[in-house]
Amino acid sequence: MQGGNAVRKILFVASEAVPFIKTGGLADVVGSLPKYFDKEEYDIRVMIPKYLCMKQEWRDQMKYVTHFYMNLAWRSQYVGILELEYEGIKFYFIDNEYYFAGPKPYGNIYEDIEKFAFFSKAAISALPSLDFRPDIVHCHDWQTGLVPVFLNDSFQNNPFFQGIKTIMTIHNLKFQGIWDMKTVKDITGLSASYFAPDKLEAYGDANYLKGGIVYSDAVTTVSETYAEEIKMPYYGEHLDGLMCARSNSLRGIVNGIDYQEYDPQTDKFLTKNYNAVNFRKEKVKNKEALQKELGLDVDKQKMMIGIVSRLTDQKGFDLIAYIMDELCQDEVQLVVLGTGEERYENMFRHFAWKYQGKVSANIFYSEAMSHKIYGSCDAFLMPSLFEPCGLSQLMSLRYGTVPIVRETGGLKDTVEPYNEYESTGTGFSFVNYNAHEMLNTIRYAERIYYDKKREWNKIIDRAMAVDFSWNNSAKKYEELYNWLAG
Ligand code: ADP
Ligand code: GLC
Repeated sequence: MQGGNAVRKILFVASEAVPFIKTGGLADVVGSLPKYFDKEEYDIRVMIPKYLCMKQEWRDQMKYVTHFYMNLAWRSQYVGILELEYEGIKFYFIDNEYYFAGPKPYGNIYEDIEKFAFFSKAAISALPSLDFRPDIVHCHDWQTGLVPVFLNDSFQNNPFFQGIKTIMTIHNLKFQGIWDMKTVKDITGLSASYFAPDKLEAYGDANYLKGGIVYSDAVTTVSETYAEEIKMPYYGEHLDGLMCARSNSLRGIVNGIDYQEYDPQTDKFLTKNYNAVNFRKEKVKNKEALQKELGLDVDKQKMMIGIVSRLTDQKGFDLIAYIMDELCQDEVQLVVLGTGEERYENMFRHFAWKYQGKVSANIFYSEAMSHKIYGSCDAFLMPSLFEPCGLSQLMSLRYGTVPIVRETGGLKDTVEPYNEYESTGTGFSFVNYNAHEMLNTIRYAERIYYDKKREWNKIIDRAMAVDFSWNNSAKKYEELYNWLAG
């Protein structure tokens, strides 16, 4: 590292982070990745909003730092800063009860558009109050897309901000923060020159993520395959041209998971802990316990397939809907945990009613239940239409629960398809977004599970041996930080 012992200072800015607030994998990444950097060389801190819907337990532990008033166009808004150290990482929280009240972090898009313009500007405005001047501000997803834009704007008049570099990480290109230009101009106070096709404007509207991509010094996404896919129209969400234009600064760094948090050997949510050596005998005890808990037929031989997911089109639920009746003719049990679109919530409720003892629909959010599913099922189904990275399949691998996935994005990069001739592979996969191709793949897995148990267990051996802890990927971020900070 240049300069000998200077510590590089990096600030993550994001809309969610575990353990404080989580709606999806973004929170897992933002909350766990900072722990895996070399502390001697990197001081990584995280800034998120202080939502009123965070657990009281967390809000009670936050310490007030300071507050000030900030202009957001013609508005003058309160910005409170709080801090809390958790597992060696300093988290900052931006407080404003007008924007961050509400039962969930995200609500109506027109409210979120103003909420995250405020958050992005507040995040930068807060820096001089922190005694922490980051070399790099690392932004995550559209909610922080305006950070590089604002930083490029009036803040440049203040020497404090000059030279701060920015990174935009795309966790999901589908969500871009799009709203009409007139309103966004009024909300942000940004001058008209920003609302041009080479800046914030896209297809007649203002686009926060586009602004972030255009104005950041480097762009990353969460797997190598997704980094390639988004340069093509099918996955590019109308920004494929821009992704191609920025391809020299775009790289894919695959996500990891927190190997302390997700460890079948110590997981406190499991009935029976197990590891790569004793899973053959012990893991099935979790299956029996879960069958009892969920009112499924208790039968340790029965192949149990799990799903833990946001119930949205992205995750391939229309494929599942299409073949549910056929699949339920097989000797399998299906355990679903998820919330999301009503039609999918109702679909699973319907099938749980129709196939009692066989299908369990858990339409809610539960950390505990998610761990039980990863630790109890034989296989895990994730037939995504697109998947920037996906963490659930990594959790499944770690728990020896064999993933069945569609070969897209991070699923393609992290699950190696089973090859019965060479005895390789950590899961099962199919290529086309086709319901019967998926069903055939599930049925192939069923045959191995029932008829070739030794082979099945060897797949588990290999799955539990792969390493998707953060260590490797944190190194790649370190390289990126070094390159950017010079
Ligand atoms: P995405 O971020 O697109 O939702 P990921 O696979 O990257 O998908 O991450 C999903 C994360 O959210 C995983 O940690 C998964 O266990 C968790 N999760 C999703 N739905 C639920 C739920 N209903 N209850 C508990 N955890 C959930
Ligand atoms: C997004 C993506 C998911 C990814 C997660 C964390 O929510 O949908 O694929 O794993 O972000 O990067």
